Amino acid sequence: MGNMIELSDLERTYRTGGGALTVLKHLDFTLPRGEWCCIFGASGSGKTTLLNLMGTLETPDAGHIVIDGCDVAKLNRADAARFRREKIGFIFQAYHLLPEFSVLENVALAGRMAGMSRHAAIQRATELLSRVQLDQRLDHRPSELSGGEQQRTAIARALMNRPKLLLADEPTGNLDEQTGLAILELLVDLRRNEPDLSIVMITHNLDLARFSDRVVTLSGGKLNEVPKEENHGL
Ligand SMILES: Nc1ncnc2c1ncn2[C@@H]1O[C@H](COP(=O)(O)OP(=O)(O)O)[C@@H](O)[C@H]1O
Ligand SMILES: [Mg+2]
Repeated sequence: MGNMIELSDLERTYRTGGGALTVLKHLDFTLPRGEWCCIFGASGSGKTTLLNLMGTLETPDAGHIVIDGCDVAKLNRADAARFRREKIGFIFQAYHLLPEFSVLENVALAGRMAGMSRHAAIQRATELLSRVQLDQRLDHRPSELSGGEQQRTAIARALMNRPKLLLADEPTGNLDEQTGLAILELLVDLRRNEPDLSIVMITHNLDLARFSDRVVTLSGGKLNEVPKEENHGL
């Protein structure tokens, strides 16, 4: 089976006018394939930085990042972009949909960028949008959707290229409790259908944590395991 993610002795320091800020230091983390891990941590603790490193969107100052057996530091920009498109699905708190495109186009475009034919991309996007119960919204623009509908569109987009790894940064952070629960149900359902998918999710949502396999907290630049039986006390 092997691991989907291996991080060792990772360090990330931001250098700004005010000096150097070390956000992550001596960080180790392993995610076995098919595992769903939730990351908790205070605002500013470095969660987004860590997720961006896992997603090859940023590079570390020290340490190693191996994703699906690939030492991603060795990839050039173009290869890293291809690696991301083929292997990783991203879900962001702020959805990041393209405002001038329809729901269907937003999802289908992810497939087109990965080389899918127009026909195949539209077919898969339509299927995924039906899975997230947006079949009645295909022609809407993002601005014509509720927050929950925008996030469901973003989830369909993240799944477009059948990623092996799903990275989600506070996916229910902008949603009310009820809508957040609907997104949770969708993710639990997705997980049931795709047991091989590995998921790393930053969240403050205790319900999401309960449905995951494992919870870690980020503090002091490192990840700490939260024993399963203590999840409920988080
Ligand atoms: N590009 C950047 N340049 C300088 N500092 C940054 C940059 N990105 C993030 N930071 C700082 O690093 C810390 C961690 O940020 P972030 O990873 O976004 O935290 P979190 O997602 O846990 O709230 C914060 O204090 C933030 O201000
Ligand atoms: Mg963040």
